[in-house]
Amino acid sequence: MADSVVRVGFVGCGGIAQQHFNALSQMDSVQLVAFCDVVAEKAQDAAQRFGGRAFTDVRAMLDSVELDALFFCLPPFAHGAEFLAVERGIPFFVEKPVGLDWGVIREIAAAVRAKNLLTSVGYMNRYRRGINRVRELLQIDPPILLLGGWVGRTPQARPGEGIWRWWIQKDKSGGQFHEQVTHTVDLVRYLAGEVVEVHAYAAKGLNRLAPEGYTIEDAIA
Ligand SMILES: NC(=O)c1ccc[n+]([C@@H]2O[C@H](COP(=O)([O-])OP(=O)(O)OC[C@H]3O[C@@H](n4cnc5c(N)ncnc54)[C@H](O)[C@@H]3O)[C@@H](O)[C@H]2O)c1
Repeated sequence: MADSVVRVGFVGCGGIAQQHFNALSQMDSVQLVAFCDVVAEKAQDAAQRFGGRAFTDVRAMLDSVELDALFFCLPPFAHGAEFLAVERGIPFFVEKPVGLDWGVIREIAAAVRAKNLLTSVGYMNRYRRGINRVRELLQIDPPILLLGGWVGRTPQARPGEGIWRWWIQKDKSGGQFHEQVTHTVDLVRYLAGEVVEVHAYAAKGLNRLAPEGYTIEDAIA
């Protein structure tokens, strides 16, 4: 164990959290000490695998366990507990997209800024060597046109795969642009600067295997 250990807690122990668990649990300088999920079994499963305690309520977790850092791995509609981290001055990582409610997102950002808190977002493409080489080149020779795209499958009905339930609902995920193409938007901002004007068109009807309750678009330009 390293001399200085960072005690990490998780809010949301679903799919992407597993990737972070696996990476962090291999670091000597990190100890996974607390796991929170509204589905108790998910938090308990993580606590069993990595040690630490399981919770279903974020406030109860923060009241009971001393943490140096928090990971928020929540679906877009479920954000807001970041305020509790800010109140307590706990630096945090949040998975993209950072939320769905523009008002809440702006308030969290303002609170983070006011506290000068260390935070990070899961826009991992920013950290790729190739992307940073492109960024350097574009600074020397600025582009006049940049084309970005995201080609992925649309969620289809698969029994037992709970993730689709929020992803296929526009009022929960924000739709494909917000949930997936956000990576492309982030890259455009990283490589070429802030957006000043937007035009958007959406299409539906491609996904013939759409599960019941599917309210998102299939393609967006
Ligand atoms: N950076 C990437 O490339 C990448 C990859 C996959 C997912 N993600 C993002 O990570 C986020 C989560 O995706 P996922 O695949 O892990 O979803 P998931 O549905 O598998 O997991 C989300 C977990 O959060 C829990 N949860 C929901 N509301 C909660 C609350 N209020 N408090 C505590 N727990 C709560 C759910 O029970 C679930 O276990 C999404 O925003 C997604 O876009 C990012």
